[in-house]
Amino acid sequence: MAAMFNQIQEAVAAVKNRWPGRPTVGIVLGTGLGALADDIEAEATIPYGDLPFFPQSTVMGHAGQLVCGQLARKSVVAMSGRFHAYEGYSLQQITFPVRVMKALGCSTLIVSNAAGGLNPQYATGDIMLIEDMINLMGDNPLIGPNDERLGVRFPDMSEPFDRGLLALARQCALDEKVSLQKGVYAAVTGPNLETRAEYRYLRNIGSDVVGMSTVPEVIVGVHGGMKCLGFSIVTDMCLPDALHPVTHEEIVEVAKAAEAKLRGVVRRIVERLP
Ligand code: HPA
Repeated sequence: MAAMFNQIQEAVAAVKNRWPGRPTVGIVLGTGLGALADDIEAEATIPYGDLPFFPQSTVMGHAGQLVCGQLARKSVVAMSGRFHAYEGYSLQQITFPVRVMKALGCSTLIVSNAAGGLNPQYATGDIMLIEDMINLMGDNPLIGPNDERLGVRFPDMSEPFDRGLLALARQCALDEKVSLQKGVYAAVTGPNLETRAEYRYLRNIGSDVVGMSTVPEVIVGVHGGMKCLGFSIVTDMCLPDALHPVTHEEIVEVAKAAEAKLRGVVRRIVERLP
């Protein structure tokens, strides 16, 4: 555990070496959503390969760099490209960059992802504000000895997504004239998409969308005391009784098409953060 604390400090030093900024907001960009980073006036763009203890991103549609700079006159750090359990990384590795964001000074964490829609009221291309989440990854990034310098042993999860940020997000979406769904995100490891029986199960236990990310990052964000906010782009509908095969290319395509809407909302949220 002391080892991880020291690794975080080393990675923080490597970022500070390239960028003197003091970020307050950390942003994690999901599959097909990397262009959100284009709105950031980048002062430094650091490939993950240049940062100690950062895993390397492999999945298509992910650039794999830390974009540091100004968004709506706030100092931000954005992950363009995130890590997934299905790539073979541990959840500790996947969430390491969130620890680094926190140690750099970020008190807010905004995450986005591409997800499959389970709620029959949703449609492809919809944006969902994540109000709650279900961890079905069969793992947890906090397993192991707890370092009290990073957070408590048993973090409360009654409100993983900050109430104030949820209200702000709703208001910003209204102002941007973007309609938002709201619901529950369930995380699985993948990499296979789910079976019909699994979609039926996921819907029955209360999920509105399903994806392969976000939950580990939010758990670590909450552990570190960050206020978290998350958005899913519904890239494909997963209705067990009307299921069509879908490819990763189609998922990336839909995410890219919906990205413009989310960009405007995120920029406005960051602008209005205290
Ligand atoms: N499952 C199904 N469809 C999806 C997913 C998923 O995890 N992610 C994006 N579309």
